[in-house]
Amino acid sequence: MKINTAEYLISSAKVEQCPKAGYPEYAFIGRSNVGKSSLINMLADNAKLAKTSSMPGKTVLINHFLINRPIEGKQHNAADAPWYLVDLPGYGYAKRSKKAQEEFEHMISSYILEREQMTLLFILIDVRLEPQKIDLDFIEWLGENGVPFAIVFTKADKVSKGRLGGNVQHYLKVLSQQWEELPPYFVTSSETGKGREELLQYIGEINISIANQEE
Ligand code: GTP
Ligand code: MG
Repeated sequence: MKINTAEYLISSAKVEQCPKAGYPEYAFIGRSNVGKSSLINMLADNAKLAKTSSMPGKTVLINHFLINRPIEGKQHNAADAPWYLVDLPGYGYAKRSKKAQEEFEHMISSYILEREQMTLLFILIDVRLEPQKIDLDFIEWLGENGVPFAIVFTKADKVSKGRLGGNVQHYLKVLSQQWEELPPYFVTSSETGKGREELLQYIGEINISIANQEE
């Protein structure tokens, strides 16, 4: 799938403030600094779209980006129909106060549980690290709440090819202790563009199946 246009729309502190259109929506979540905003920029092929930072805690609101702005009067085929990308604040940033941490958790969980347009949540995992309890707990919480999700391993450029495969397999093995069926997963690098085609194709296929259901 190709992206025609990508633009920033709005930042919301609450799920009620999010855009009203019912376009398919794909959100990105994960620990602070895992590379959510960078991945969105890589997908949209625009390094300036979402704000990134080497300091954790950069994204503090629910940020909506519109892909493939609708053109008035034009009939869209499913392949270039509009959809949203959503950049969420990271969880588990230790330097926030307890109160701020709770507010972030509330913002994130109410978005995930209440946002009807949210088609799928991508949970980002730094491929360099051993499986972290905070991510495994979060994935378990998604399962308990029936939230559709896929896993995106990030920063693939930072490990050797050998370690990359080993780390991914290790992660999947740990997940299989929790899950009978493993979620879809992608291995990406925002530096090299690795995984871009696969992710866009996956999103495109879901968009097409949604469009077909609506017909
Ligand atoms: P918060 O908004 O704070 O939750 O962080 P985030 O998950 O949006 O992370 P962000 O995209 O801002 O990236 C954090 C840091 O990791 C930045 O310095 C990025 O340049 C770097 N980074 C992100 N993705 C990659 C990647 O694939 N490869 C490499 N080498 N660096 C990356
Ligand atoms: Mg961010």
